[in-house]
Amino acid sequence: MATLSSHLILITALLLLLLHLSVPSSSQECQHAADCSPPPSPLPEPPSDYCREGNCTVSPSPSPSPEPSPTFQDVRLAAAFPVIQRFRASITSDPLNITRTWTGPDVCSYTGFTCDSPPDNLTATTVAAVDFNGFGLSAPSLDNFIDQLPDLALFHANSNNFSGTISPNIASLQYLYEFDISNNRFSGAFPPAILQIPTLTFLDIRYNSFAGPLPPQIFNRSLDALFLNNNNFAQTLPPNLGDLPALLLTLANNNLTGPIPRSIGRLSTTLTEVLFLNNRLTGCLPVELGNLTQATVIDAGNNLITGPLPCSLSCLRKVERLCAVQSLANLSLSENFFTSVGPNCRRMIRRGALDVRGNCISDQPAQRSLSECSVFFLQPRLCPFMPLYDVVPCSRDRTSGRRVAPGRKSNWVSYSALSEHKAL
Ligand SMILES: *[C@@H]1O[C@H](CO)[C@@H](O)[C@H](O)[C@H]1NC(C)=O
Ligand SMILES: *[C@@H]1O[C@H](CO)[C@@H](O)[C@H](O)[C@H]1NC(C)=O
Ligand SMILES: *[C@@H]1O[C@H](CO)[C@@H](O)[C@H](O)[C@H]1NC(C)=O
Ligand SMILES: *[C@@H]1O[C@H](CO)[C@@H](O)[C@H](O)[C@H]1NC(C)=O
Ligand SMILES: *[C@@H]1O[C@H](CO)[C@@H](O)[C@H](O)[C@H]1NC(C)=O
Ligand SMILES: *[C@@H]1O[C@H](CO)[C@@H](O)[C@H](O)[C@H]1NC(C)=O
Ligand SMILES: *[C@@H]1O[C@H](CO)[C@@H](O)[C@H](O)[C@H]1NC(C)=O
Ligand SMILES: *[C@@H]1O[C@H](CO)[C@@H](O)[C@H](O)[C@H]1NC(C)=O
Repeated sequence: MATLSSHLILITALLLLLLHLSVPSSSQECQHAADCSPPPSPLPEPPSDYCREGNCTVSPSPSPSPEPSPTFQDVRLAAAFPVIQRFRASITSDPLNITRTWTGPDVCSYTGFTCDSPPDNLTATTVAAVDFNGFGLSAPSLDNFIDQLPDLALFHANSNNFSGTISPNIASLQYLYEFDISNNRFSGAFPPAILQIPTLTFLDIRYNSFAGPLPPQIFNRSLDALFLNNNNFAQTLPPNLGDLPALLLTLANNNLTGPIPRSIGRLSTTLTEVLFLNNRLTGCLPVELGNLTQATVIDAGNNLITGPLPCSLSCLRKVERLCAVQSLANLSLSENFFTSVGPNCRRMIRRGALDVRGNCISDQPAQRSLSECSVFFLQPRLCPFMPLYDVVPCSRDRTSGRRVAPGRKSNWVSYSALSEHKAL
């Protein structure tokens, strides 16, 4: 079973591979517009041999730095230097005194910055990763910072106090594959530029104040993990949700509406953990949920989902297996408006694999009050494809699921996304 840490090891390995792929290119100095823009005064000047051939005049500094002009190991680091210094000047709070290390020409030694060779020039050195996780920095924006570090492959900024919106310019980050801005104060719509980043495989924007619809295109990207929980996304889940090949998907604690799309059944070989809890999802549970045979956690608790529980749920073997060894894992459909359960689901409930507390199932304990249920059902609630709710598509080889050795107890990665800080 894939854990996030092994997943991260994998993508780190991919990064190293990426960074060592030689792509011949006629990279020139001043290739990027940012390289040529004058650094804002009163920041130190870049070295004089930087931008030899270009339009790179530096505006005079009203309060010149007392230090001599630094000399840089590489033109790309010289280009990153004014970008970092400008960002440093915009930081309004630095409780851990991180930015004290952000001085001098050795950009690669700054706390939070990691250098490596870019894929397009293996003899060059550039800022390849920025990891600010847990630094608690406050800044009004990341604009003109990350989008001006063109070789960035990783950006991690969990648990800082960054705000504003995400610049459309991040679309130019051609090597970025991990983008984590979780637990900050970003707002506005889902940043459309994220959809343009060609190499992205890991996106974590949970615990911000993003609002409005989720662009359906995000589910067409080949992401391994997509963490969108604890924002204010409000919209019907798009029908192409099942195009996302992710192992981990967290949509919990938003304002999402409509039914869980039937296309989720297409994720049968990939999806291992999915959290829908605490939204305003409606409709009936799709029969196709039973196709998620790799799933160890499915939590659709505290929504407005109704109807009978499809018998296909008994095909969720990994959920069952974990349950059989008395781990708490974990198919939760609690706090909805389900009306009935078939015999297979009853078995799962008895084993503790399935939590249906707080529903409208008359013969189960801990259900909603009769009056609460009757108010909800004053509106007609009909499930399409009713005959399918009785089908158990996997019944033929049910025993094979039982023969599997007891699974080891594990920490569910997706549930850890429901706390705001990164444990990594
Ligand atoms: C140099 O930059 C200035 C301002 O950015 C611009 O107006 C000017 O046309 C540029 N000159 C050349 C030769 O590119
Ligand atoms: C940061 O620097 C200030 C001022 O020198 C000092 O009082 C404080 O203890 C430092 N904080 C940390 C976490 O090092
Ligand atoms: C690669 O980077 C090195 C170091 O910055 C530089 O000297 C060299 O000209 C670059 N090569 C190409 C093809 O751009
Ligand atoms: C976060 O930034 C806001 C301003 O954007 C500020 O009011 C607040 O005190 C900051 N919080 C922390 C914990 O630094
Ligand atoms: C997602 O991809 C499918 C198949 O490639 C395509 O038919 C569909 O239009 C795409 N949807 C979006 C929202 O891009
Ligand atoms: C969710 O959306 C509804 C309207 O669609 C709105 O009334 C409600 O305030 C929203 N909830 C939150 C927490 O924003
Ligand atoms: C779900 O699985 C059944 C067989 O178990 C298969 O016939 C069906 O096509 C699958 N549905 C989806 C949406 O993958
Ligand atoms: C199972 O789900 C419940 C509620 O959704 C949660 O409280 C519990 O921690 C979960 N168990 C595990 C092992 O993650």
